[in-house]
Amino acid sequence: MAAPGQPELRHGRVGLRLIRRSDARTLQRLLAENRDWLEPWEATNPDGLRQVPGSASMRPAVAWMLANAKAGTSVPFVITLDGRMVGQLTVSGITWGALRAANLGYWIAEEAAGHGVTTVAVALATDDLLFRRGLHRMEICIRPENAASLRIVEKLGFRPEGIRPRFIHIDGDWRDHAVFALNREEVPGGVLRRFLG
Ligand SMILES: CC(C)(COP(=O)(O)OP(=O)(O)OC[C@H]1O[C@@H](n2cnc3c(N)ncnc32)[C@H](O)[C@@H]1OP(=O)(O)O)[C@@H](O)C(=O)NCCC(=O)NCCS
Repeated sequence: MAAPGQPELRHGRVGLRLIRRSDARTLQRLLAENRDWLEPWEATNPDGLRQVPGSASMRPAVAWMLANAKAGTSVPFVITLDGRMVGQLTVSGITWGALRAANLGYWIAEEAAGHGVTTVAVALATDDLLFRRGLHRMEICIRPENAASLRIVEKLGFRPEGIRPRFIHIDGDWRDHAVFALNREEVPGGVLRRFLG
């Protein structure tokens, strides 16, 4: 479903394009440069196998993302600013049938943070999945301690649905997550248009 030929999604200086095999090296560099910035929010292996962000080649990870995209369960995007890769946004857990729902996760390099880039990227991706690819619900799960990420869903008007206790293994332990969601009919004109007012 993640058509490789899909054109880049864009608003102003912010772009979203599907990840490519050739992104592996840049991805590894960004993760290594932003180790301290990302570590408190990084998903970790519940079996205790700890991998420091950026410490290993990202080729297998990118291949895994592309395989999931080919299987139709995920859409792995790269976030760009003026055409330069600055982060990543992944729509995962895509389920069809009577559910038509997915999860959205993201991170951005510290040097590009605080300028509204991720907020625009989340709006672009949500509109793409809800209105072009035909999903009904987009969900975002955030640790209650993550003030910057909470601002993103607040700015975009995602609906709070409560707390899932010890929901995802992050930074070495099971962490509570606040759940936010949007259904397509809640944003008839699209998330980006509503955000821009
Ligand atoms: C969360 C994250 C993606 C936000 O990216 P971003 O591009 O800076 O997001 P935006 O600029 O669109 O919005 C961030 C908002 O949070 C605010 N913010 C930033 N740091 C904050 C903090 N410590 N406390 C409160 N608000 C904060 C910003 O001011 C901005 O709000 P504003 O528009 O009202 O000023 C980025 O901080 C990041 O990658 N963090 C590490 C990984 C991570 O947390 N991923 C998300 C896991 S759910």
